[in-house]
Amino acid sequence: MSDHWQNFSHHWNRLGSPMRPCAEDIGNFRAALGDTPGNCLLLGVTPELAGVSAQLTALDNSADMIRALWPQDKRAILGEWLDMPFEDASFDNVVGDGCPVLLEFPQQQTRFFAEIARVLKPGGKLVLRAFVCAAQAESPEQVCHEAMQGNIKGFHAFKWRLSMAIASQTPGYTFRIAESLRTFDRHFPDRQQLVDATGWDMQDVATLDLYRDSAALYSYPPLSELRKILPKTLVETGLMYGHYELAERCPLLVLERRA
Ligand SMILES: C[S@@+](CC[C@H](N)C(=O)[O-])C[C@H]1O[C@@H](n2cnc3c(N)ncnc32)[C@H](O)[C@@H]1O
Repeated sequence: MSDHWQNFSHHWNRLGSPMRPCAEDIGNFRAALGDTPGNCLLLGVTPELAGVSAQLTALDNSADMIRALWPQDKRAILGEWLDMPFEDASFDNVVGDGCPVLLEFPQQQTRFFAEIARVLKPGGKLVLRAFVCAAQAESPEQVCHEAMQGNIKGFHAFKWRLSMAIASQTPGYTFRIAESLRTFDRHFPDRQQLVDATGWDMQDVATLDLYRDSAALYSYPPLSELRKILPKTLVETGLMYGHYELAERCPLLVLERRA
């Protein structure tokens, strides 16, 4: 797993929306948190979120990612989301971008939300952008066909959509991300032909190679399934969407910690 994030830490700048949050997403995080975000916990080291609160602690289990992405003057702790090194009710709010995608559904994600509920103060919010597969499943073949028809604008949206299609056909919606690259290579043995047909940048396409031999598991349950595993103490009070490509599968969940 550490190799997976070590690879990513070196190529972060080549990644784009929807995997990385765009300005509109950050605006939505800020709007959901309001004017007094207080003592906040960030799950991960998403650099775009470093400014959401003056009092921010980032928690990430990859020293490589912390070193590569996190501003040196900001607080970061090396640690596990599934076993957070914090007392109960330590934070006014918790934020995260895309975190559940990296946890197996449903067991690890259930534990993840329980840990967040534990460290949040009553009345505090979890503001979390999730990545979910479509309510109506599509196949990898369909996604590749759409790409060749010119119906998918950005390569990063295509990459995410392909992974979501694989997840939607996998029990538990969880699969090895290396499978995305294998599926892609099967459909597009000639990358130049794809690049010529779509206008995508070959270097963006090459970001898929970061998945080669990765042991990492990725999960994209539909939103309806994700909602089923939320603890009763986290109540949905808002749901926001951006307007970028595939935004409908990247909901910003706003959950309030109830006693
Ligand atoms: C926030 S997530 C998802 C990517 C996100 N869209 C972004 O823009 O940053 C990526 C980070 O999660 C961290 N991570 C993954 N699983 C973790 C876990 N179980 N505990 C703590 N950190 C974890 C990785 O090290 C990586 O830095």
